Amino acid sequence: MPAPQSERSGKVGISDESHIVSVRKAVRSVSKWLGFNDTEVTRIVTAASELARNVDRYARRGEMHWRVMNDGGNSGLELVFEDEGPGIPDVEQAMAPGYSTSRGLGLGLPGAKRLMDEMEIQTEVGKGTRVTVWKWRVGGVANKPVVSKAGSMMEVGIA
Ligand SMILES: Nc1ncnc2c1ncn2[C@@H]1O[C@H](COP(=O)(O)OP(=O)(O)O)[C@@H](O)[C@H]1O
Ligand SMILES: [Mg+2]
Repeated sequence: MPAPQSERSGKVGISDESHIVSVRKAVRSVSKWLGFNDTEVTRIVTAASELARNVDRYARRGEMHWRVMNDGGNSGLELVFEDEGPGIPDVEQAMAPGYSTSRGLGLGLPGAKRLMDEMEIQTEVGKGTRVTVWKWRVGGVANKPVVSKAGSMMEVGIA
């Protein structure tokens, strides 16, 4: 279902493996609506799919929040995956390609980072995990979002 003009953010609950499909659909829809080309849409959906799968697999439940970013003529997409699961003890280790605590391929996190423009992981053992990814429609180094220490989007900076 295409996002109406007024709708700039939304969320999808993840509490069952089947909800990964719901996440994919929502992300595909909003990415297309934002004008990303087919290749970019596929990259964004693939990243979202991996992050949603991690929420399902490691935390059992959580949410994906999407938000359209606007800065002058540039637009982009922010996706936040948050859960109250076990957290990640060593983020650097988790980001290493091939590292998995579930006999997975260990490519979900590093893959998502590669497919998007920017990724941030906030996590605390016993509390949960929040993975945020950003993709700019007019991408590139000069168009990266500026993020506050608390991790929330403060402004969209054009360096
Ligand atoms: N939301 C999460 N909560 C807790 N641990 C996570 C989460 N996402 C990822 N991890 C940890 O990071 C590791 C690497 O994740 P990933 O790169 O997706 O590979 P895989 O899922 O194949 O193991 C996982 O094996 C898991 O230990
Ligand atoms: Mg994974």
